[in-house]
Amino acid sequence: MKDFMTPFYLHYYNSNVWSNTYWLGQRVLKCPLDMILYQEILYKLKPDVIIECGTNEGGSTLFLASICDLLNHGRIISLDIMEKERPQHERITYMLGNSVSESVFNKVKQMIAPEDTVLVILDSDHSQKHVYQEMKLYHSLVTVGSYLIVEDTIIGHPVVPQLLPGPMEAVFQFLNENDDFQIDETKHKFHLTFNPNGYLLRVKK
Ligand SMILES: C[S@@+](CC[C@H](N)C(=O)[O-])C[C@H]1O[C@@H](n2cnc3c(N)ncnc32)[C@H](O)[C@@H]1O
Repeated sequence: MKDFMTPFYLHYYNSNVWSNTYWLGQRVLKCPLDMILYQEILYKLKPDVIIECGTNEGGSTLFLASICDLLNHGRIISLDIMEKERPQHERITYMLGNSVSESVFNKVKQMIAPEDTVLVILDSDHSQKHVYQEMKLYHSLVTVGSYLIVEDTIIGHPVVPQLLPGPMEAVFQFLNENDDFQIDETKHKFHLTFNPNGYLLRVKK
């Protein structure tokens, strides 16, 4: 990250505007520039299945479904440990459970066909331990040319350092052991992202 971004990051994050951002009236805990990156990825990749760990109020899920509607392609499986009222949409399947439970993972796996192009987004518990566990489980579902997106790697880099170690630490732990994925540096183009080093492109099987 460029040094000149640190004060802006802190200002943006500490303003709490990220929790006051909406897609079609649903709260979405994302930086709008990341939503444009998602749109670009979805347009190019046209994934058959998007797996989202961490639904919250479903704003990000509805956003993904809206882009899939525009592309006339794709469905979303979104899981969360908490039950909430969420937007209903024919492309969305919500699942209740702990993302790192083997049985939840196996249920998700059963909902994917072998020929499906799969994109995975990790946006649940942001501790290093949990994100690393998710990466170990879900990376196998990501197809070559698609992404494993690790959200909120800005934790500790530079915002809320008290939450370290977080997603960024999990990314490097995982990449040290796995050369099937590479950080896609082109996803830093807007400078402001909540997911620096978090867009991991699958380069081989
Ligand atoms: C950052 S929010 C998700 C934000 C949402 N994707 C968005 O962009 O609007 C994190 C969510 O992860 C859920 N969560 C926390 N621990 C989890 C776990 N072990 N398994 C599944 N979901 C979990 C929380 O209940 C919370 O709703």
